[in-house]
Amino acid sequence: MSTPAITIGSTHIPRIGLGTYKITGPDAAGDIAAAIGIGYRHIDTARMYENEAEVGKGIRNSGVDRSEIFVTTKVWPSDFHDLLPAVEDSLRKLQMDRVDLLLLHWPSDPESNKTAVAQLNEVINKGYAKSVGVSNFTIAQLEEARKEAPIICDQVEYHPYLSQAKLLAYLRSYDMALTAYRPLALGKVTKDPVLMDIASKHHKTAGQVTLRWLVQQDDVAVIPKTTHRERMAENFNIFDFELTQQEMDAIFALNKDERLTNPSTAPDWD
Ligand SMILES: NC(=O)c1ccc[n+]([C@@H]2O[C@H](COP(=O)([O-])OP(=O)(O)OC[C@H]3O[C@@H](n4cnc5c(N)ncnc54)[C@H](OP(=O)(O)O)[C@@H]3O)[C@@H](O)[C@H]2O)c1
Repeated sequence: MSTPAITIGSTHIPRIGLGTYKITGPDAAGDIAAAIGIGYRHIDTARMYENEAEVGKGIRNSGVDRSEIFVTTKVWPSDFHDLLPAVEDSLRKLQMDRVDLLLLHWPSDPESNKTAVAQLNEVINKGYAKSVGVSNFTIAQLEEARKEAPIICDQVEYHPYLSQAKLLAYLRSYDMALTAYRPLALGKVTKDPVLMDIASKHHKTAGQVTLRWLVQQDDVAVIPKTTHRERMAENFNIFDFELTQQEMDAIFALNKDERLTNPSTAPDWD
């Protein structure tokens, strides 16, 4: 069974990936391989997570061919002025010739963003990444970036308590995807009465309903993180049911603009 995907140009982004922030240490490679065994074909890492070596090892140990796995990594703003050596270092750690998606992890000041975005073209030309994108960029920052490089997505915090309606409409209008990080609101959604009520009707969990609500929106992918095997399977098992429009709307109504990520380097979210 192949995972449903979002197609942007010639790039297919599997709708669900494993988030790997804080998956480090001796068990990390085994966690990644286990997720792939469950069916995940999309792994989200970053230089900042200090686990690229473990992610690469987990993929190699999984027994699934590298070409079947969509790998994303991200470059931190401290490397924006000399992006290529940072990307080369990531590839060395991952032991890969290229990643599927290379993101600028957080926006910086306008000049540094411009410098970094320009180098994304070189990343593609050198074959270091199939596609490039950004993370935590506002609409205004995206507006600058997309003119200078073929940005295919913005990875941002998105869950039922934080609307991304404006950003999503903008991304769709330029054929870009939204990858939803922190999709379970760090686990908070699992105790939400509205989500639990909808879940009971579908014989699913509140977490599954949340992830389903996200992937049932056009151009949205999700990257929940867990190290527990049963939760990995639970989070992945969201493609065998469908929410009604009324249920989708009830979840949209949970929005309270609650951002769980420090927005210090991107203050103008609107
Ligand atoms: N681009 C960025 O700036 C950025 C920022 C933040 C995150 N991210 C990416 O997005 C990924 C996901 O975000 P996140 O890790 O911050 O938050 P998240 O996926 O919303 O939540 C993860 C938390 O939920 C728990 N959890 C997972 N599945 C569960 C389930 N089925 N039932 C109950 N609890 C469950 C996990 O605990 P256990 O592990 O103990 O199961 C963990 O504590 C990250 O790993 C990273 O790859 C990107």
